[in-house]
Amino acid sequence: MGRSILFVAGEGLPFIKTGGLADVIGSLPKALLDRGHDVRVAIPLYKQIIDKYYDQLERIGTIQVHSGWIDQPATYYKANVDGVMYYFVEHQGYFEREGLYGYEDDGERFAFFQRAVLDMIYFIDWWPNIINSNDWQTGMIPLMAHACYGDDYRYQNIKHVYTIHNLAFQGNFGVEMLPTCLGLGYEYFDNGSIRFDTGISFMKAGIVYADKVTTVSPTYSQEILTQLGGERLDPVLRYRREDLWGIVNGIDVNVWNPNKDPLLAKNYTKQSWVSGKKANKEALQKELGLQVNPDVCLIGLVSRLTNQKGVYLITEKLNEILGNDIQFVVLGTGEEAAENAFKWMESAYKGKAVYYCGYNEELAHRIYAGADLFLMPSLYEPCGIGQLIAMHYGTLPLVRETGGLKDTVQPYNQYTGEGNGFSFYAANADDMVYTIRYAVNVFYQNKPAWKALVKNALNTDVSWAKSASVYEELYYQICNWSDN
Ligand code: ADP
Ligand code: GLC
Repeated sequence: MGRSILFVAGEGLPFIKTGGLADVIGSLPKALLDRGHDVRVAIPLYKQIIDKYYDQLERIGTIQVHSGWIDQPATYYKANVDGVMYYFVEHQGYFEREGLYGYEDDGERFAFFQRAVLDMIYFIDWWPNIINSNDWQTGMIPLMAHACYGDDYRYQNIKHVYTIHNLAFQGNFGVEMLPTCLGLGYEYFDNGSIRFDTGISFMKAGIVYADKVTTVSPTYSQEILTQLGGERLDPVLRYRREDLWGIVNGIDVNVWNPNKDPLLAKNYTKQSWVSGKKANKEALQKELGLQVNPDVCLIGLVSRLTNQKGVYLITEKLNEILGNDIQFVVLGTGEEAAENAFKWMESAYKGKAVYYCGYNEELAHRIYAGADLFLMPSLYEPCGIGQLIAMHYGTLPLVRETGGLKDTVQPYNQYTGEGNGFSFYAANADDMVYTIRYAVNVFYQNKPAWKALVKNALNTDVSWAKSASVYEELYYQICNWSDN
């Protein structure tokens, strides 16, 4: 029987995206809706959403939100996207800025957001069975729902799932946040439950107070239990290990569909990928000013350029990588050192390598379609969306064996012919370069093997079908529901 689930997050497609979290929020709710649940989403109303979608939003109303010393109005809007209702929390001062996160007052902004979402439930009189919160921006929700609405059984009945998309971003703030912005007493610091060093942690609060904790791949769910991958939260994760589930992400295969994608030079299917990808490669080469040659091995990279993504393994070895008979297209923004290295690469390898510094959704689609290999040598990767899209577009991922990359990419086995990509284990630039050479060699020297790998990649199920049913099972478990 269908149930009601509210997803709360800092970003979500189709309205706003800085990374894979938005992909998940834009696709998992829809997959659960298709399974018969009433699924809704709450995100802040950012300036970028107002600029692009204001006409499509319906104003619900305004209420005064009291959260500690914060006493300010929140205005709510909504929009229905294919049956999933999105709610938006408007606060000009907090959310109408150029970026989404990374401001001095992030703690105050997201304390307000979380309290405003909880107040909204009462205001619109819609009581979800489950709230699934995501990442640090929403980590306080389970605790606030219990502690700030003490006498209302409707709040107490809500069950909480907290999903970790990236443990490294924790939302750690000063202890004074408790009374000033959260409306909570110092006991939550004193008893240690949300204490982190001398302050408090939103991420830790989510881990401690949710009924169940999930993360976005089985391997990452194990890695974060160790000191190496635990970002200093491994002790508390170990304490919750019985309630920690690792559920691998999917992608929206309706949005990411090479046969329908309107942004491609040519659409293609599992049958027509050879000619389809060639045409897309040629178009991409023309668009970016690369030498036009549909037979060359084209490597793509679409990523935030940060240490997490292993970009310095690449920048350290640009000459060696480009010493191969390849072309290299990089799309992304991030740390200055990485951006500068790729800018240098473009000037040193004119016609062979291109760096597009920026965020460009359309170009991303064309790189996924036009490339042969998709490079993702992350030092750690909770799940990764890029490699899933790449496989679905018949582009073989070349990844480091970590987190979700390990769970989703099966490396080529030259003896059995199995695999849907390439991988290496050590976080080491030489191993990566070796694997790139190996893959490029298969591309040129063993066409039948390459074709079989692409076929396997295209046949890999990267949809939400399986994982949405695991989320459902989890929800059933915490609510003691049976299937009927
Ligand atoms: P993360 O969320 O850690 O950045 P993921 O692999 O989970 O990594 O998701 C990244 C998402 O953002 C993918 O959908 C990828 O295509 C997209 N993306 C990353 N950088 C860019 C960019 N510069 N332009 C367009 N899309 C990008
Ligand atoms: C985070 C992780 C990424 C994951 C995404 C969606 O941004 O870094 O690995 O795919 O969240 O869950």
